[in-house]
Order: sequence, then C-alpha cells, then structure tokens
Amino acid sequence: MIYLDHAATTKPLKNVLATYHQIASKHFANPSSPHHLGESSEDIILAAKKIWCDYFNIPAHGIIFTSGGTESNYLLIKTLLFQQRQNEAVHIIATTVEHASLYETLKILKRRSDISVTFLQPEKNGKISRNQLVQALKPTTKLITIQTTNSETGIQQDIKMIGAFAQEHKLFFHTDAVQAFGKCNLAHIFDHADAVSISAHKIHGVKGIGALLIKHPENLAKPFYAGSQFGFKQGTIDPALIASFAVATDDYISHEKTRLDQLKMCRRYFIEQLQAAQLPLTIINRENEQSHIIACLCDNVSGDLIQQALNRQQIYVSTKSACQSHSSGPLRSLAPLFGDNQHHHFLRISCGYFTSLEDLDQVIKLLTKHLRK
Ligand SMILES: Cc1ncc(COP(=O)(O)O)c(C=O)c1O
Repeated sequence: MIYLDHAATTKPLKNVLATYHQIASKHFANPSSPHHLGESSEDIILAAKKIWCDYFNIPAHGIIFTSGGTESNYLLIKTLLFQQRQNEAVHIIATTVEHASLYETLKILKRRSDISVTFLQPEKNGKISRNQLVQALKPTTKLITIQTTNSETGIQQDIKMIGAFAQEHKLFFHTDAVQAFGKCNLAHIFDHADAVSISAHKIHGVKGIGALLIKHPENLAKPFYAGSQFGFKQGTIDPALIASFAVATDDYISHEKTRLDQLKMCRRYFIEQLQAAQLPLTIINRENEQSHIIACLCDNVSGDLIQQALNRQQIYVSTKSACQSHSSGPLRSLAPLFGDNQHHHFLRISCGYFTSLEDLDQVIKLLTKHLRK
C-alpha cells in the first residue's frame, strides 16, 4: 500500500495512540470536577498546552480546543460575531477558495442584513494581492479570514502581507492553517495573524481534536461566563485527545527540519520525474517548495480514471479535497487558475513524512502507463 493522500488525513503515530489509550484509561475524570481525579485531568491539559504556547508564543488561555479544523473555523466566526454591537454593520473579507467550513458558513451569514462578506477570487497565480484587499476594504470591515495553504492546489497565501494590511487597518486577521501546520514553519505566524485554526489528524494525531489559537484572548468579549475554555467554548474537554494531539505536535516540532526537508525532497523528486517522463499533464503551483501537495491536471484523461487505476494497485491519491468528495461540481480552488471546467482532470498527490522515493517511483511508473495510453 502506498498512501499519498496526506492532505485528507494522516495515520496516527503509535505513541499518539498509546498516549490516548493510557490517559483515557487512567485520567478519565472531567477536568472541571473539583476532586483529585478531576485535578489530575486538568493538570494533563495544562502540561499539554505548553507545546503550543512555546512554539507559537501564545498564552495558555489562547488555546481553545475544538473537534478539529472545521469547528475551529466555526468558533472563530461565532467569537467574532459576539464582538458585534447591536445594530452594528459588520463586513468580513474572505476568499472564494476557503475550506467549506468557512466558505459555506459565511455564505449563510451573508443573508443577514447586518453582515456583508466579500469573497475575493485569487488572481491568476492563485494568490490574493494587496490591491484586492485595498479594493475590498469598507469602513465596516472587522475581520479578514484567509487560509494559509489551500487543500487542493497547495497554494500558499502571503500571510505576511495580509497581516501587515490587517494591522495597518486595525482588522482582526484569522488564518485557517489546517493544511499548513506541520507542512511549513509557522513559529512566527502570530507576528502576522490574530487567530489560527489547526487540526490534529493532519499531523499524525487522531481525528476529533483541533484548536483555535488566539494571540490576545484578553481583548475579546467571551460568549460564556465561564466553563473549561475561558468562556470561549462550552463542553467537556478530553485530556486523552488533548494529550495525544500534544504528542503529535511535539513529534513534528522536535523533528521539524527533518520533516520539512523530507516533504521538500519528495516534492522536488516527484516533479523532476514527472518532467523527465514528459507526461501529458500540467503541474499546478510548481514553484512553491513549501507544500506537501503535488496538484496536477491530466491533459487528456479524467483524474478519476487515473485515481481508480492507482487505487487498483493500492496506491491512494485524490481527485478533490475530502470536503468536496460528495460534490461533482467545479472546484473553487481551480477557478482562478483555469476557469470552471478543468476539475475533471484534477489529480492530487499529497506526500507525508514517511513517503519514500521508491513509493514515488511506483506512482511515476503507473502514471506513465496510464497517461501515455
Ligand atoms: C484548509 C482546511 N481547513 C479546514 C479543514 C477541516 O479540518 P477537520 O477535518 O479537522 O475538521 C480542512 C480539512 O481538510 C482543510 O483542509
């Protein structure tokens, strides 16, 4: 089996699963309970938080655990709307290529008379420009939410430029970094962003846990008076899920350079081999070395056909992101680059820390066979 769908999800590490099992068996008490067992659960959560506090340089009360990237994005919108005063008009700047959790939520919110949303369509290179932000800005703009890395094309937005624009105009800047965390160095992202969404299952953690990270939580009004998450979110939090997320994060951070070098090497090698074989396909976002995603358009054949041919050989790749898998319509992420009718040709190969060059050789061999038919 060759797994090349790491943008969809990753296999949990052994020590992630062992940690989950150990903590879930021993420290099962509710961390809000006033007894010793509850306190031990709370201690586990406090100790786990240190890993994100140190890497991102944010306070412990700026880490809000969620069920994953989707809920982190929902929570960000909910938190920002809670800052809105009665009868205050609020304008939000987002993009047409955001993950469905943001895009669809903002589309629904846009129906409200007090909320307006500008969805910027990236330029031909897939990126949002400063000029577009300038054009979109309104006196009522409160929030910019723009993803760090796209889940289909792997294109990265210019977070530094967007952050500088947001700071200049005193706007709150959130970035969905679910596809970026673990794939590029984000240690300084809070120099630019005010809030960041991340998810454990994209970095070899388990599914069902993620976080919304907030740089200055003290500046935000909270929807709830109290609760285990500083008034940002209610519900019982699970020390086992959180500790296992911390183990996955720690594994990445302590091997960051090796992990990123491996992803870069795989990408470079795969693209070189594709070019050497002169296969009839177009590589999207070729220049960006900081992505684990190799996105292609197969020139004369549908991506589904190639994906199924690889599938028969137990090689797992994708033709769209998992959140689009039940839709047969155009991919929003491809529209700025190729218009609306190229999605049938799309193929996404996403490498992981443990992908080998031999794995990639096998894929090249099969691609050569099927694309040259
Ligand atoms: C950019 C992006 N944001 C958010 C999500 C949702 O994350 P989760 O699956 O943890 O809810 C994904 C998942 O693919 C994603 O790629």
